[in-house]
Amino acid sequence: MKHELIEKHLGLMILLIVLTISGGFLVEVVPLFFLKETNTPVEGLKPYTALQLEGRDIYIREGCSVCHTQQIRPFRSETERYGHYSVAGEFVYDRPFLWGSKRTGPDLARVGGRYSDAWQRQHLYDPRSVVPESIMPAFPWLFEDKVDYTKTADKMKTLQTLGVPYTDEQIANAESEVKGKFEIEALVAYLQHLGTVISEKR
Ligand code: HEC
Repeated sequence: MKHELIEKHLGLMILLIVLTISGGFLVEVVPLFFLKETNTPVEGLKPYTALQLEGRDIYIREGCSVCHTQQIRPFRSETERYGHYSVAGEFVYDRPFLWGSKRTGPDLARVGGRYSDAWQRQHLYDPRSVVPESIMPAFPWLFEDKVDYTKTADKMKTLQTLGVPYTDEQIANAESEVKGKFEIEALVAYLQHLGTVISEKR
């Protein structure tokens, strides 16, 4: 009977839904903001270099995270395949996170160093030339377009205000680091760095 009351009164139902969700948020999410484990970078974690940062933005632009996750869950089936499970401290400088939610392709959280630069380039140019059964799209334009260097320093400055420990020197050198580089170079620099701070591999 009581349930019927709720179901017949939309306002009451909305209010109760909002209360339930905010209660869950308070209990599950808010404590994470204050937990050392989620806020402290893992040992050796460095902010992305200017080139890696631009590579990361290309990864976002091309929608790589639609098909690839970057989070290895602590299950045997995952750690056997991908390496050490992901820990929160690896992502402290990631804004936004690129954990993803769907694996059409494999997880990429520890793909850094798994293949050579040459393999990565070939694979992105023409996936089926190295993995014949691949359904991944090709990204040939990354080999033609140069990285847009005009905003790199500003991006790093913004991240600096958010707590990413870039030095002013790194920001000053940002433009010269990426200027004239092809987009593929930035993307591969980013990929080769992924997950390498924790050294235990598959
Ligand atoms: C439509 C889905 C899709 C998109 C979008 C996509 N991929 Fe993939 N990717 C795959 C599939 C499927 C595989 C497995 C087959 C293969 O290796 O080509 C894969 C494999 C990979 C691998 C090899 C991983 C390993 O451990 O063997 C890398 C690296 C990779 N993708 C990077 C990227 C990058 C970078 C982008 C964006 C520029 C991207 N992918 C976009 C589907 C996708």
